Amino acid sequence: MSVQNETRRLTAPDIRARKGGEPLVCLTSYHAHTARIVDAHCDVILVGDSLGMVMHGLETTIPVTLDMMILQGLAVMRGSKRALVVVDMPFGSYEASKEQAFASAARVMKATGCGAIKIEGGRRMEQTIAFLAERGVPVMGHVGLTPQSINTIGSFRAQGRDESDWAPIEADARAVADAGAFAVVLEAIAEPLGRRITAQVPIPTIGIGASVACDGQILVLEDMLGLSPRVPKFVKRFGELGPSIEQAVQRFAQEVRSRSFPGMDHVYPMRKGATEPSVTRLPERSKGPARS
Ligand code: KIV
Repeated sequence: MSVQNETRRLTAPDIRARKGGEPLVCLTSYHAHTARIVDAHCDVILVGDSLGMVMHGLETTIPVTLDMMILQGLAVMRGSKRALVVVDMPFGSYEASKEQAFASAARVMKATGCGAIKIEGGRRMEQTIAFLAERGVPVMGHVGLTPQSINTIGSFRAQGRDESDWAPIEADARAVADAGAFAVVLEAIAEPLGRRITAQVPIPTIGIGASVACDGQILVLEDMLGLSPRVPKFVKRFGELGPSIEQAVQRFAQEVRSRSFPGMDHVYPMRKGATEPSVTRLPERSKGPARS
């Protein structure tokens, strides 16, 4: 007997077919609970390597490992049922060769059940993307600002703000599309360039600090919820969760200290009819060895 899921998950070809259509809604998630919320409203959930900064307090994404991505990818797959889940390939897991990239991607896909992976880089990744796509690995590209290159680019600066810098970024986006990626993230590039690349490439562009003309938009969930202490210019805070989490933690602390939590609603009474043994007060805790 075959067991069918009632909800069909979106696939990479579904996302590819949305070029020029209704904007694609994409957010990151790294946990089952947030994945459940995001899944109800998004087409794509990205398990981004930004988890290194958001979950682990790292300065960059460089130290993130394949094991970290697999663990959070699994959590997001468990929490979601409709959106396409894309897992980022971390620094060092795909750049050495197309064979290394395939082995890492296959490991992530087998372990998590995700529907696609994302890799950073344009022309330099063209052969790798083609190799993966031909072998059953749907690839989302990522060009413009590529945070895994922080040690060679020097800072998280927006790209293409002078027209003279456009050509290589356009060539990167075209290379990713020509190689067979199903979509491409455009990160932190000048707005007119985002618009122009979107008009040039046949695959959906997903903007993050690019242009409203992109085929979709993505943000890091914690950034847009107001939980991240430092965010780039392109982040709009759609919520302010920090103060309400702080308030809840403060109330918990007060109620624990004043012994008003847990109340009778949050503890287990004895079963009906069971006799309640008399509870004698516990002896005072020893305050250390008695002094003579
Ligand atoms: O890691 C990430 O969250 C990303 C997005 C910023 C696109 O790559």
